[in-house]
Amino acid sequence: MKLRLIFIMFIALSLANCGDGKKSQTDAPAATKEVEETQVASSDPMENKGIGPISSVSLGEIDQALVSEGETVFKAKCTACHKISKKFVGPALKGITQRRSPEWIMNMTLNPEEMIQKDPIAMQLLVEANGAPMANQNLTEDEARALLEYFRTKN
Ligand code: HEC
Repeated sequence: MKLRLIFIMFIALSLANCGDGKKSQTDAPAATKEVEETQVASSDPMENKGIGPISSVSLGEIDQALVSEGETVFKAKCTACHKISKKFVGPALKGITQRRSPEWIMNMTLNPEEMIQKDPIAMQLLVEANGAPMANQNLTEDEARALLEYFRTKN
């Protein structure tokens, strides 16, 4: 009788172990996958379109009329915090179109509150700006597009 009890306990224990073993085997690859995906997302900033109303922008030849419209908006709405060639309250914007996708730039301009909360690049910029948040200037999509054209000439 005693032996049989020990035998049953042995079986029960090995079944329990077996279950545990399976669980950690399936958990491990899932956790690894998550890490890999985060790394991919942050490794090429030009692949990041940001969060906001702009999902796709197609760029052609530089449109000079749009550039000067963008320059006017920039001087009126952005120079309180940005300079082209020097860090000010916000980062220098020289070469911004080489560092960020056109969609990301427009979403950052139109939707900064959500961007600095959820977008990995914008969250990092907020840290670098010592927590000073980019202000929403309530621009139209056309104004944001004109600004993008202006930035294309500032490399
Ligand atoms: C109140 C100050 C303020 C104003 C006004 C402002 N910004 Fe910003 N901007 C910031 C700060 C600060 C950051 C860095 C992110 C943060 O801390 O929120 C930033 C980040 C950015 C970035 C990302 C820069 C990078 O290196 O990727 C872009 C693009 C940008 N701003 C464009 C604009 C445009 C265009 C305007 C005008 C419509 C504007 N900003 C107006 C403060 C401002």
